[in-house]
Amino acid sequence: MSSPESNVIIVGGGVFGLSTALWLARGGYKNVTIFDRCDFEKNHYNPSNGCDGASADINKIFRATYGSKSHSQDLALEARDIWLEWNQAIKNSDPSELPDPLTPEDELLTLCGVFHLADGPELIDLYNENLRVMGETAPSFRDLQFVKNSDSDERRVNSLGPNWAKKYHRFDTFRDGRTNGFLDAGSGITLADKVMPRFFFYLSWVNFYQACVYARHICLKAGVKFILGRPQGDIKSLIVDESGSSKRVTGIQTQDGLRHNADLVIVACGPWSSSLIPDAHRSVEATMGTVMFVDVPSDRQDLRARFHPDNFPVWRFLEGEGDSAYEGGGFPITKEGRIKFGFRARKFTNFQAHPSQESLKISTPRTKYSPNPINTVPLYGLKQMKRVIGGLFPELTEIGFTDSRLCWYTDSIDNEFVIDYVPGYSDSLFICTGGSGHGFKFLPILGKYVKNQLERNPDRFTPLWKWRTVEEGKKCNGLEEGETGPRDMSKLKLASPHDFHFRINSPL
Ligand SMILES: Cc1cc2nc3c(=O)[nH]c(=O)nc-3n(C[C@H](O)[C@H](O)[C@H](O)COP(=O)(O)OP(=O)(O)OC[C@H]3O[C@@H](n4cnc5c(N)ncnc54)[C@H](O)[C@@H]3O)c2cc1C
Ligand SMILES: *[C@@H]1O[C@H](CO)[C@@H](O)[C@H](O)[C@H]1NC(C)=O
Repeated sequence: MSSPESNVIIVGGGVFGLSTALWLARGGYKNVTIFDRCDFEKNHYNPSNGCDGASADINKIFRATYGSKSHSQDLALEARDIWLEWNQAIKNSDPSELPDPLTPEDELLTLCGVFHLADGPELIDLYNENLRVMGETAPSFRDLQFVKNSDSDERRVNSLGPNWAKKYHRFDTFRDGRTNGFLDAGSGITLADKVMPRFFFYLSWVNFYQACVYARHICLKAGVKFILGRPQGDIKSLIVDESGSSKRVTGIQTQDGLRHNADLVIVACGPWSSSLIPDAHRSVEATMGTVMFVDVPSDRQDLRARFHPDNFPVWRFLEGEGDSAYEGGGFPITKEGRIKFGFRARKFTNFQAHPSQESLKISTPRTKYSPNPINTVPLYGLKQMKRVIGGLFPELTEIGFTDSRLCWYTDSIDNEFVIDYVPGYSDSLFICTGGSGHGFKFLPILGKYVKNQLERNPDRFTPLWKWRTVEEGKKCNGLEEGETGPRDMSKLKLASPHDFHFRINSPL
């Protein structure tokens, strides 16, 4: 079990690794080192510049509505307070104290609102439940939520001012009004990174800002060490001592051939976690989200204004159930003119031989920067996105999609995180992952409760985050399907560049 005197190595400098390091160092841990093969010092978590972790992104949704999952709602609200403190701390900083590329004008959480939208005229059960729980447990937040097509909520939202009234009505004409949902004005976007704009040199006035850059900065101030980049930050394997009666992890070996000893190794490698811990492949699985971008040219100031976060909220849209379901959403425009859209109704996998155990096949991320790079997305998700996004925003169809990304989730068997000692290693190996598509918002707070698990101080998260694996015969979020499942990428058709254009009327 760990203590402040332990030499701790954390593999992975995404949200889970950073937050853990921050809370350990601030909690008195004297020797915490993060290893990551991405050189965040140079690339600032920029997804267009060699970073392919889920945390390296231009923006993420912050929401606090979690239905009956009150532990997640409470964690999100606790995180929100710190996000707003971080905004304030950045604002009050001397520019020279801030890490490149942050400036005092930047904020990490922008409360532009989230519109939860769904197909059909009646409010769906999920949204009813979300609203009900908020009303009972956090009434001041419920006051910031406005149900679509409700006269009383329309009056309430109008009192917030004309921009909120505009956001409330933003989706009225979609599908001739046959949609339902609510606008959540207490939520918004966290800024994960700023994309290197295509017109970078003309836009040098742009503020580059970044939540992970800031978290790394305060980690450094708290004494956390970083070993970044290839080969020195790239972990080849764990060093396992099997000489005694039980196995122990005694450190890590990096791709430059060096060995680093530690009392405790924390693996926070997101979707690559089972590459280092083969045992974890029945506990977490890398699955793929389709992300598309529309880059609005600088001469379209009309569109840049229309999608600006002052005038436009984050949105999510749900339609149908099961295999043909739609679950996706989009963001307001960034200062560089980039609008991001995501789709994840079907969670695709990519089974490959495990790097150290040839006979084992695990789902492994494939990105623009992996050994077998990919620069497109599955046609299936793209067609669905064109159908919904073309209907919502016909004004964007003439531009079409200008870029894409595969962003890899780390799904657990039940979408709760996996934060515990790995069994069989005498408390020398700890896993900290399982973000399951909703981990980013917790960046400021997660480590507080990771530390409890490390020190075996039980809290409300202990039973939820404990080590667990697929149970035979049970539906386990798709992990039960394994390599022969129907969602493997080898079974998919990939989009070609002409598929990025919209032809709204073409049949699917
Ligand atoms: C498309 C998409 C949309 C999402 N949207 C939201 C959202 O709107 N709101 C929200 O709250 N959450 C969202 N999430 C979830 C959130 O992004 C994740 O939960 C979170 O970023 C996971 O962080 P992580 O640290 O576990 O993993 P990652 O960010 O993937 O980090 C893992 C790190 O490990 C490093 N690494 C891996 N293997 C090695 C090795 N062998 N040696 C050295 N380094 C290694 C990688 O370089 C990487 O930096 C989304 C996720 C995706 C994929
Ligand atoms: C700190 O930890 C690292 C690796 O975990 C180890 O190599 C180093 O010797 C430790 N330093 C001290 C002062 O204990």
